[in-house]
Amino acid sequence: MSKVLLVTGGAGFIGANFVLYWLGKYPQDRVVVLDALTYAGNLDNLAAVKDSDAMTFVHGDICDQPLVEALIRDQKVDTLVHFAAESHVDRSITGPDAFIETNVIGTHSLLKAAKKVWLDEEANVEGHRFHHVSTDEVYGTLGPEDPAFREDTPYAPNSPYSASKAASDHLVRAYHHTYGLNVTTSNCSNNYGPFHFPEKLIPLVITNILFDRALPIYGDGKQIRDWLYVEDHARGIDLILEKGRIDETYNIGGINEWANIDIVKLICGLMNEAFANDSGLAERFPEASAAQAGNAESLITYVKDRPGHDRRYAIDPTKANNELGYQPAETFETGIRRTLQWYLENESWWRAVMDGSYRQWIEKQYG
Ligand code: NAD
Ligand code: DAU
Repeated sequence: MSKVLLVTGGAGFIGANFVLYWLGKYPQDRVVVLDALTYAGNLDNLAAVKDSDAMTFVHGDICDQPLVEALIRDQKVDTLVHFAAESHVDRSITGPDAFIETNVIGTHSLLKAAKKVWLDEEANVEGHRFHHVSTDEVYGTLGPEDPAFREDTPYAPNSPYSASKAASDHLVRAYHHTYGLNVTTSNCSNNYGPFHFPEKLIPLVITNILFDRALPIYGDGKQIRDWLYVEDHARGIDLILEKGRIDETYNIGGINEWANIDIVKLICGLMNEAFANDSGLAERFPEASAAQAGNAESLITYVKDRPGHDRRYAIDPTKANNELGYQPAETFETGIRRTLQWYLENESWWRAVMDGSYRQWIEKQYG
């Protein structure tokens, strides 16, 4: 049976990759994207489906409960996949208010809208699902020898971002236990891949090498993250929607732990190699003198650590593996090369994001 999905935050990094994945795999379904187009939202991410009858874009805020109710009711939405969030830890340290507003109040507003239409009005109620996209950061930090995060690891968020995501996870759970909303939650590790906003480590390093700018390493650079190719996250959510049990949470990860400094050095090496193999790159990126000299690592600069910086994240994916048959399909070796290639081939995308021309265009479009 075909589905009608409401995807919040579908113009952001993971949301857009999910929409492209979904419409590629399920062309008979309809997807309504609701996105406020904050600095992180980008309609260019959805360019491949913008003319498709299967995708409708709605510019709006998840805190606008009447709008969300109308969308669920009128578009006959049966599945809500909730990505919209303020997502950058550093921004949550300097400006936490927006994180509370979108991640906590906004998620609650969505839950109220879903309850009202699906449960109180009994519209499109059959087989309804509210899937909440959360993060491994809610579990806090691990020591070097600690076992990886499981679904029953106690919550211990350390940044305003992760605390706001933890709060939203609890609200989602409560709406099942109190009102009977059909909910599932995924807690995923660090994603990478196309359309990743260049404030985050991997795209920041790629673009800074091309501009010959410093590569800032927080603290000693030995913090560890578990990296997952973004399409594998979309596949995980797909499996949860298909086979996941209501009111369950599933951890999704890459079984791919890397210290930050090692990942930065890896990207430097790949970039040196790309410049050595393709003389056209030096013409296209004349500023990238370190990479042209085969020495991008010279840009590495140790800077002050992030306050409250979590030392290590790692996901134990046993439950998703046993219950859903989930396994990442992309290896890091191929995924990181694909990602680098995507950034080299999509210079206009990241230049527009970085020089503000995309924002100027959006302001003209939507005021
Ligand atoms: P992102 O910052 O790239 O995108 C967020 C999107 O949400 C943007 O399109 C933005 O315009 C939209 N948005 C923000 N506030 C909104 C509002 N009030 N109303 C409507 N839309 C709004 O984020 P991302 O990295 O794609 O993350 C998506 C989700 O996945 C988030 O919930 C995040 O917590 C979670 N997550 C991210 C990662 C990761 O590595 N990036 C890992 C695990 C979980
Ligand atoms: O674990 C999942 C989380 O991964 C998501 O919930 C977040 O939305 C997402 O942003 C990401 O959070 P991180 O803080 O792990 O990602 P970020 O890319 O900001 O940083 C990755 C690591 O690199 C982290 O240890 C901080 C470090 N770092 C980051 C930047 C931007 C640096 O050393 N230098 C930098 O300039």
